[in-house]
Amino acid sequence: MGNIVLPLSYLIGSVTFIIGLKMLSHPDSARRGNLVAAFGMTIAILATIFLFRDHEGNALGNYLWIFGGLIIGSIVGTLAAKKVQMTAMPEMVSLFNGMGGACAMLISVVEYHHNPSPATGTLIVIVLGMIIGTVSFAGSIIAWGKLNGKIKDKTIPAGQAINFLLFAGIVALAVAVIGGFSTAPALFYGILALAALYGILFVMPIGGADMPVVISLLNSFTGVAAAFGGFLYDNPVMLTGGILVGSAGTILTILMCKAMNRSLKNVLIGSFGGGAKAAASGGGDKQQGSYKEISMNDTAVLMAYASKVMIIPGYGLAVAQAQHACHELEKILEDKGVEVNYGIHPVAGRMPGHMNVLLAEADVPYEKLKEMEDANDEMGQTNVVLILGANDVVNPAAKDDPASPIYGMPILEVEKAEHVIVNKRSMKPGYAGIENELFFKPKTSMLFGDAKKVLQDLVSELKQV
Ligand code: TAP
Repeated sequence: MGNIVLPLSYLIGSVTFIIGLKMLSHPDSARRGNLVAAFGMTIAILATIFLFRDHEGNALGNYLWIFGGLIIGSIVGTLAAKKVQMTAMPEMVSLFNGMGGACAMLISVVEYHHNPSPATGTLIVIVLGMIIGTVSFAGSIIAWGKLNGKIKDKTIPAGQAINFLLFAGIVALAVAVIGGFSTAPALFYGILALAALYGILFVMPIGGADMPVVISLLNSFTGVAAAFGGFLYDNPVMLTGGILVGSAGTILTILMCKAMNRSLKNVLIGSFGGGAKAAASGGGDKQQGSYKEISMNDTAVLMAYASKVMIIPGYGLAVAQAQHACHELEKILEDKGVEVNYGIHPVAGRMPGHMNVLLAEADVPYEKLKEMEDANDEMGQTNVVLILGANDVVNPAAKDDPASPIYGMPILEVEKAEHVIVNKRSMKPGYAGIENELFFKPKTSMLFGDAKKVLQDLVSELKQV
């Protein structure tokens, strides 16, 4: 029976991965998409455990080890996912991705020892899976350490030259192993050591805030390494899963770079803006003139008598965990007959879809979330734009200043609206470390304070207008 049921379960697994991935592309269906794919994965895993037979007809066995691992992994995974803060999500993704890379690496190590004289094709798959899995594992762990502040950004002198040498060393050893010039296991483990070092040194100098792009790239590496595992075991569901992760990670990496108007090379080896130095000094050195502040009461009056308000959420809203207060503001304005929408920039925050996830958590209706192009179309008819902890994504330098590091990045064109109110805590720059001319424009008023506190005060104020 296993003869039919096992391939059938793999087919079901593969199809559910594809359907699940498709469903992930819309917030309404994303949760169900995840469950659909997890269901398919469960079927494929259980079918493998109970129905797989080797060439001699032996079952897998080792059930204590397998179920012990499954139970421990499920408990750790569930607790970690339940406990994680939204702002720490890239960190968790990185750690989990690293585990995927480690699995691919271990599969190669195990199969290398299982099969003392493999065919060249098999050896290629084993070695490539091991190299890519190891780079992904080591790189992801460094990325995880950087995001939670345990590892600092470190520029290594002659880092690029060292990485090039490491890469050349990996290729040379791989050729020696695959070409059969030496069967000494030391050579195989030499590749593993060099790949681990390469993964560490490749991620080490990259700015901590660029990590989401790198994590997405490493994610695609893990997918490719898993696909090699699929080849190795002649397992179609592993192959499909690996290919889907590999291609989705690659597409996401490209989309993120495009939305920031940066090349992948610039993310990997370039520095972005003034970075920590500019942030610490409170901005760039360009004098922008003076800015004006607005009181809570004036903001409440302006918004209450507007007919159309656009809220622009950014990283600061996530930091302040002000999404629920923001939804409160939206509801009270709607009760007063004001149309409220949200303008969502594709790279607002620090991870793909950050603002969508954040606002969905507060039950903001999805139709209110306007993608950048649609939001820009509506900006001209908007009375008040309220910017909540966003900075780079509304910086006009991206359009007007060819010398700016963000020049060319598409932005939310808030200046087209009648009034612009900016909420942040100070005049410090955002992620790119550069000043924002918008704050000094005649249309713009600054409403200083922590986003959550400001929104709560604004809601109280609006109740009295
Ligand atoms: P940012 O440009 O980083 O600006 C966030 C602003 O929030 C800061 O200027 C900060 O000013 C303010 N802020 C921080 N905590 C706050 C709080 N508690 N209350 C109120 N305001 C607070 O954010 P953005 O406009 O969302 O742009 C995102 C940036 O990240 C872009 O440069 C993008 O390229 C980059 N990036 C994005 C991604 C993805 S995939 N989303 C990945 C990597 C990099 P104060 O300190 O003065 O309060």
